Amino acid sequence: MNHSAIDLTTAYELIDRLAEVHALPPADYAALIRAFCGGDTLRPPKEGEIGAEASAALAAYARAKADPLRRQYYGNQIFIRGLIEYSSWCKNDCLYCGLRKSNHTAERYRLDTEEILACCEEGYRIGFRTFVLQGGEDPYFTDPVLCGIVSAIRSRYPDCAITLSAGERSRESYQSLKAAGADRYLLRHETADPAHYALLHPPVQTLETRMRCLADLRDAGFQVGCGFMVGSPGQSADTLAQDLAFIQNFRPEMCGIGPFIPHHATPFAKERAGSMELTLFLLSLLRLLQPTLLLPATTALGTIHPQGRELGIQAGANVIMPNLSPAIRRGQYLLYDNKLTSGEESAQNLALLKKQMDGIGFSVVTDRGDPAGADIDASQSKDV
Ligand code: 5AD
Repeated sequence: MNHSAIDLTTAYELIDRLAEVHALPPADYAALIRAFCGGDTLRPPKEGEIGAEASAALAAYARAKADPLRRQYYGNQIFIRGLIEYSSWCKNDCLYCGLRKSNHTAERYRLDTEEILACCEEGYRIGFRTFVLQGGEDPYFTDPVLCGIVSAIRSRYPDCAITLSAGERSRESYQSLKAAGADRYLLRHETADPAHYALLHPPVQTLETRMRCLADLRDAGFQVGCGFMVGSPGQSADTLAQDLAFIQNFRPEMCGIGPFIPHHATPFAKERAGSMELTLFLLSLLRLLQPTLLLPATTALGTIHPQGRELGIQAGANVIMPNLSPAIRRGQYLLYDNKLTSGEESAQNLALLKKQMDGIGFSVVTDRGDPAGADIDASQSKDV
């Protein structure tokens, strides 16, 4: 038996075990990723290359195991979140991100409370029951300012979930935002490996702080989302295994993953984009690892492939986050090159999204879309 054959047999067994017990030791995650990629490159073989069929078959196997688990908790429902990108200002200098402070060519804007409320109003009308306020780390949004926005949305939309994605803040800040009426918080951990984290960020940003923030968010009572890019510079099967081990241990309510895509005005301009196939495989593994996870098919996935988001849903994702930001701002919130800003990405185009999801046997619902097992009444959700 050759080496890859041994790896593949083991890989199928590991997927079976993950589907059954929803946990694996880190070394097994790494072995699974290596088997899928045919080695250490994080570039699974493409059609026509040696090992391509074996790799595609393994992905299909993981997908087939993930699908019934997702259906067990969420049926064929796809939850939608209206994304409001409220500020493109950022004080951080993450090496991968187009909004980094050193990018002097980035266009900067911030929405005021009225503009944010107008986005919510339109979103509510077209069927959104979760609003996600995402921004760079913009010091303008102090606790009083951000809490004011959250409580304004909370009082107008008592039946909606409010999700914040506003970066690293103090424990007290998170507590105030929760008290103001926010329900969920997204803060990707980016990588669970400290050395890898140091490669992606300047020294003032540390994994320790990021992890402290995630713990504080949990303590403050938020539903918490973490996540990471796939194929970021310096990533390996071992660092990805650490990401999965972290998720297994932390048990976030949500997890956002998408391929790394280079931005021309960052130090990573010349790096290669992450693999869509590996992203899809990891989505399936995450569904197996934590069946109730709220798992978006991200914009980045839709950006690297025209069917990226449908493929993401088929791999095990159950959330889509269309863009509710004012149309004139969408081209100014550019984390990476070629980011989708219209078409199925636009919240206004919900009809197209619904049709795409119908086409693959899923149904977009008007619902807060809380994690299964939380205090929810599934009979409340209805088709858009
Ligand atoms: N490619 C893909 N994803 C990116 N993000 C930031 N920059 C990029 C990029 N170049 C992701 C990060 C961040 C989230 C808001 O967007 O993971 O947490």
